[in-house]
Amino acid sequence: MKPKSRADDFSKSNGAEEPGQTSLRLKDTGVDRLPQPFRAVLLEPVLHIRSEAASHDLRGNRSPEARLQEAVGLSAAINLNIVHSGVVKVNSPKPATLFGEGKVAELAGIVASEEIDLVVVDHPLSPVQQRNLERRLKTKVIDRTGLILEIFGDRARTKEGRLQVDLAHLTWQKSRLVRSWTHLERQRGGAGFMGGPGETQIEADRRQIQDRIIALQKQLESVRRTRDLHRKKRKKIPQPVVALVGYTNAGKSTLFNRLTESDVFAKDLLFATLDPTLRKITLPHGREVILSDTVGFISDLPTHLVAAFRATLEEVLEADLILHVRDISHPDTDAQAEDVKKTLNDLGVDAQTGAPIIEVWNKIDCLDPAYRDKLLSDAGSEGPVALSALTGAGIDQLSTRIDAFIAQHDDVLSVRIPVEEGALLAKLYQMAEVLERTDAEDCVSAEVRVSDKQRGPFRDTFGAFIDKG
Ligand code: GTP
Repeated sequence: MKPKSRADDFSKSNGAEEPGQTSLRLKDTGVDRLPQPFRAVLLEPVLHIRSEAASHDLRGNRSPEARLQEAVGLSAAINLNIVHSGVVKVNSPKPATLFGEGKVAELAGIVASEEIDLVVVDHPLSPVQQRNLERRLKTKVIDRTGLILEIFGDRARTKEGRLQVDLAHLTWQKSRLVRSWTHLERQRGGAGFMGGPGETQIEADRRQIQDRIIALQKQLESVRRTRDLHRKKRKKIPQPVVALVGYTNAGKSTLFNRLTESDVFAKDLLFATLDPTLRKITLPHGREVILSDTVGFISDLPTHLVAAFRATLEEVLEADLILHVRDISHPDTDAQAEDVKKTLNDLGVDAQTGAPIIEVWNKIDCLDPAYRDKLLSDAGSEGPVALSALTGAGIDQLSTRIDAFIAQHDDVLSVRIPVEEGALLAKLYQMAEVLERTDAEDCVSAEVRVSDKQRGPFRDTFGAFIDKG
């Protein structure tokens, strides 16, 4: 399971770090230190959009307030204490500081009086803007990419995920070093870096980062090789895999807990140790499935972070069924759903080849009661399933739908295994669900249910013993 609360501390910038490199890395606090959430200011810049085309981008589909709210949620996820937040209209973005002079002065006042440790600007900042803002505000500044990298770093649970995020972080830092250097060189006629490191220092930093990137890439390669082995092992799991995907804050973890809590298999230690986001559950008719949780989607994911995010989503490609969890009470629910569908499509999960997707409309407890009751009574064998992971309303319908889906793809077969092949019996239980068994003198007859996933391997092993009649 994803850790939902944490007692982590942030390593604060000590001033030695170069602006343009956001390394707000989480560090282990040890047992005797109290958590110290960063006091932070969060700003949601709204840039004046001139062109027609720009007003149609995805960001334009969301209201600034909703974006701010999402950013507040994301910040809370990494334990930032947002002391002050707001939407800031930027009529003419300043190349040096993004915000105008008046706003920067006002912010500097807030930072000083509120003892702010960090300013988060929910928008891309150029390295120069970041550096200048840090100087003027006398505190650390990160932009949207920095914030998302922190979240991925915090949530990446597998070794591969962590390496992938570190790689994205370093690649980003490297590009910022280069760009800030060339930009300033051009501006200042090669006179150096405003009191910062000169060309030699930047070159050295860049080489050091490059060396770390190469080392990480090598590590990633070897982790990938072992991961393939794990995957193969996981493929041998006879149960179908049901993956939960959805926007950040849609309620995936709450649903995951709700579906697994009542079940004796929920604490299945094997899966809990192998991967905390996998749990075995038993559906009402006794079928077993493996439930898999994933990292939440985030709007306007910077393109260079897509690979890191996808690495955390690859499990979805192996799923037999995908549950797309939506916060149906959210004003931007449709735009969010489009984002999720597009990303799944890009990943290769499409209507023709990928696993089928059931939409789960969560948080119906927040809807108008009449509409909520209509959604619940409309529940059928197709279309979205409406529920509240919080109250439990509609959960049974979801279990029934998953069950029905799995049943459609099952084969129920009769097998007759001669006594001299008795060693195969253990395999029978591994590869199929045994519904009925009769032991005779010369053979064991059984009725078994074989999942879609196991059909091929099962026939390879038991083909000769399947009753054709
Ligand atoms: P990420 O980990 O960011 O991807 O989020 P998530 O999709 O796992 O969402 P999570 O389960 O953490 O829930 C987010 C918030 O929504 C929490 O405060 C939950 O208590 C709340 N929540 C989840 N389900 C419901 C629901 O059915 N109704 C209401 N009112 N709140 C819900």
